[in-house]
Amino acid sequence: MSIIAANFKANLTRAQVLDYAKKLDSILHSMHADLPQIDIFPSNSALLDDKFTHFHIGAQNAYFAPNGSFTGEIGLLQLQEFGINRLIIGHSERRTLFGESDEFIAQKFRFYAEAGFEIFYCIGEDLGTRQKGEQHLKDFLSAQLKGINTTYPKLIVAYEPIWAIGTGVSAKIEQIESTMETLTQLTDAPLIYGGSVNEVNAREILSLKFVSGVLVGSASLELQSFVEIIKAGINEA
Ligand code: 13P
Repeated sequence: MSIIAANFKANLTRAQVLDYAKKLDSILHSMHADLPQIDIFPSNSALLDDKFTHFHIGAQNAYFAPNGSFTGEIGLLQLQEFGINRLIIGHSERRTLFGESDEFIAQKFRFYAEAGFEIFYCIGEDLGTRQKGEQHLKDFLSAQLKGINTTYPKLIVAYEPIWAIGTGVSAKIEQIESTMETLTQLTDAPLIYGGSVNEVNAREILSLKFVSGVLVGSASLELQSFVEIIKAGINEA
């Protein structure tokens, strides 16, 4: 089954997310189709109870503690209050803008794996790394997966090349294909792609042999675009 996930980042207010979620549930209901796995990741102030019929709510980030003196963070207890048990870890924006190291990210992984969460673990290179060639790229991605249990049954690896995020230009199909194939040598986890996925390119990306889903940023903010991407996922289900 395909995985179609929406990362809203710091976009949409709580009221907007609630409206979006209600409309999405009702649209999906009327489709009468075998739906893919659908997950929505709103900002922390817009987290909703994970009780929609056709999709799940997850968090974009959380600290590796039940609660405590971690200003600006939220912990396991705050997520559990919403019934949330899925989490994005290691997004490149957290790595680059907020200085999260591989080890810091791995600590989050260990804590939330222990708590039984489904973990969307993000990896991906910058342009300079890619330009250094195939072997360098493989070593880089392999290092990003070090320190986590790549056989964790609820692990989903999201490959998001930094140079394709928010640019409107996704990686080329051959690049996605070959990098995903490389990743199959590093983990058995389902592999999903992120980086300028939209309603036009989703179908082709989802049809690739080693791609089990997509993690969508900008194009998920528009409900109708996200629905079109879900439809592409239905055909691949
Ligand atoms: P865009 O779809 O806006 O490129 O963002 C991708 C992403 O970072 C999803 O986590």
